[in-house]
Amino acid sequence: MASLEGTVALVTGAASGIGRACAQRFAAKGARVVLADIHTAPLEELAAALGQDQALAVTCDVTDAGQVQALITRTVAAFGGIDTGLFAAGTGGAGPVHQLESAVFDRVLKLNVYGVFYCLKHVAGQMISQGRGGSLIAIASLNARQPAEGLAAYTTSKAAVAMLMQNAALELGRHGIRANAIGPGLVETPLSASLWQHPGIREAFMAETPLGRYAQPAEVAALAHFLAGDESGFLTGQTIYLDGGQSLKKYPELFRFWGGG
Ligand SMILES: NC(=O)c1ccc[n+]([C@@H]2O[C@H](COP(=O)([O-])OP(=O)(O)OC[C@H]3O[C@@H](n4cnc5c(N)ncnc54)[C@H](O)[C@@H]3O)[C@@H](O)[C@H]2O)c1
Repeated sequence: MASLEGTVALVTGAASGIGRACAQRFAAKGARVVLADIHTAPLEELAAALGQDQALAVTCDVTDAGQVQALITRTVAAFGGIDTGLFAAGTGGAGPVHQLESAVFDRVLKLNVYGVFYCLKHVAGQMISQGRGGSLIAIASLNARQPAEGLAAYTTSKAAVAMLMQNAALELGRHGIRANAIGPGLVETPLSASLWQHPGIREAFMAETPLGRYAQPAEVAALAHFLAGDESGFLTGQTIYLDGGQSLKKYPELFRFWGGG
């Protein structure tokens, strides 16, 4: 797959799971990477492992537009520009829709939607000023298209991200900037670990997944690499469901596992 040599990638949620795997993959393919997250220690550890010529760790809360602006400024100062923006910082939040706390809904939308919006806005502005195009990639979810019992805040946020990327693609194509989303099914990360506590839930997900397994973060990173590189140069405005075929079936009935309804 395409070399990313000579490019700069900004990755949010880089301290863990999918964001971390994407940052590692981009770096392995030659990109210089800026690692952004609210958790400083694992970021600095990853940056040290990659080396200071290739990686910079920046502690940043992506729900704060000012911090995102400062992140872009630091990225450009360190590496001269941005070619790829990969937005993985995200969270979950559960509750039956008729009992869902507004605070939970706010928290999930603030991170999953506003967090992507602030990054998209400021990275796109930087890319336009550079005049050499770029690739914007958001980690949405299978839940952008499949509702799930007890996950209304999350599903709503991911549907919004998928549309945000389509709208960005529509507006930014004239600048040579592509915008796509990845919609993973279940991926083994700290975020999904809370699900595994419920006996039988793993089997329920597998039963609805034609490939009969969940994904590893590196498999999401492989698709992100394709979207970042020139080989996907005519691909924009899409949400690609990397879900082992689960979108062909249905979501497990989750109220069975955590009550509600
Ligand atoms: N794991 C899955 O099964 C799965 C499936 C579909 C989509 N996703 C999506 O993939 C993305 C990454 O999830 P993951 O599974 O790797 O989770 P994760 O918990 O392993 O990683 C998320 C990272 O985001 C960071 N983060 C949280 N709040 C932040 C903030 N305000 N500012 C900056 N960083 C912040 C966390 O510190 C963490 O490092 C999320 O958007 C998630 O919704 C995950």
